[in-house]
Amino acid sequence: MPDVLKNDRFLRALRREPTDTTPIWVMRQAGRYLPEYRATRARAGSFMALAQTPEFACEATLQPLERFELDAAILFSDILTIPDAMGLGLSFANGEGPQFAHPVRSAADIAGLAVPDMDGKLRYVMDAVRLIRRELHGRVPLIGFSGSPWTLACYMVEGQGSRDFATLKALCWNAPKLAHQLLDTLARSVAAYLIAQAAAGAQALMVFDTWGGLLGPAPFREFSLRYMAQVVAALKANAHTRDLPAILFSKGAGQHAATLADTGCAGIGLDWTTDLAEIRAAVAGRVALQGNLDPAVMLASPDVIRREARAVMDSYGNHPGHIFNLGHGITPDVDPDHVKVLVDEVHAYGRTLRGS
Ligand code: CP3
Repeated sequence: MPDVLKNDRFLRALRREPTDTTPIWVMRQAGRYLPEYRATRARAGSFMALAQTPEFACEATLQPLERFELDAAILFSDILTIPDAMGLGLSFANGEGPQFAHPVRSAADIAGLAVPDMDGKLRYVMDAVRLIRRELHGRVPLIGFSGSPWTLACYMVEGQGSRDFATLKALCWNAPKLAHQLLDTLARSVAAYLIAQAAAGAQALMVFDTWGGLLGPAPFREFSLRYMAQVVAALKANAHTRDLPAILFSKGAGQHAATLADTGCAGIGLDWTTDLAEIRAAVAGRVALQGNLDPAVMLASPDVIRREARAVMDSYGNHPGHIFNLGHGITPDVDPDHVKVLVDEVHAYGRTLRGS
């Protein structure tokens, strides 16, 4: 039997409907800044074992909700599960970034990639979604997510993290047809992955285009935006996802907000380098906006955190359609008590803003 949501602020804000206060969740809300996450990770043995064991993934997903009055849960997983399921061999070296044993480099590598079977190698993700929905008992909605085709391609071609992902950029310049072939396979994979998460119980979907902002304006449209648009179109064409809100987050690509809104997504995530008032005017109420406190503010004192949170909310103003978040993931050095300060201030000031 479907749960009745006890707190639907986040979904209402995504539909740009009025809410009693501003909803908030935090990118990477389950993670290393929480001692209980580090304990779960130690019990699991590794990050991948944690992500691939639904009971551990469920535990990590719920941990931040036990501490803070967050308005959404996000599936505990990673964006790199798709390339891993494609056979690239993902690992996380101790405390380091991701590594692929078999990066994608040649035409043959790209031709050999197929959309993974969602009931096969990625079944653990859907099992985690089902378990989390059961354990949430309708407390807050569950967000499913994927990396964007561009951002997944960045890691797949580089084989690891990078400052500039120049290996994929070089492929785009030297062999655009191959780059497009790779991105098309990824767009079909991302759509199938998000649809499977929705079928398993995800109630909103987010696409992390962490590295879209590395591209100039024309390449952004050609290699990043175009494939996110393909994903959104596929979601609109599927019965499981037609009515589910999708949020697109292209870090560093605030100048493209209006074009991102044209995809038909419900919301846009913004980093802290953009002004919410300006973007709100540019998208003219067509989408909800999510963001955008500088994550480094979380290292400052509680008074500064409260003041900066209010400044973000003032820049959006008393209009429906704002979901408070950081402009990027919370970092491992943040004091968990500071997150409580932030969440409580957003809810309190959200009520003040609405005059209630
Ligand atoms: O937000 C959440 O709480 C849900 C879980 C989540 C993780 N990764 C868990 C994770 C989400 C939504 C992601 C997305 C992700 N993963 C992105 C896009 C968002 C962003 O931050 O830009 C990217 C680029 C990745 C790839 C990735 N995964 C990197 C670069 C790293 C290592 C560096 C880092 O930040 O730790 C990871 C590992 C990872 N994914 C951890 C967590 C909690 C840390 C692993 C550990 O426990 O050591």
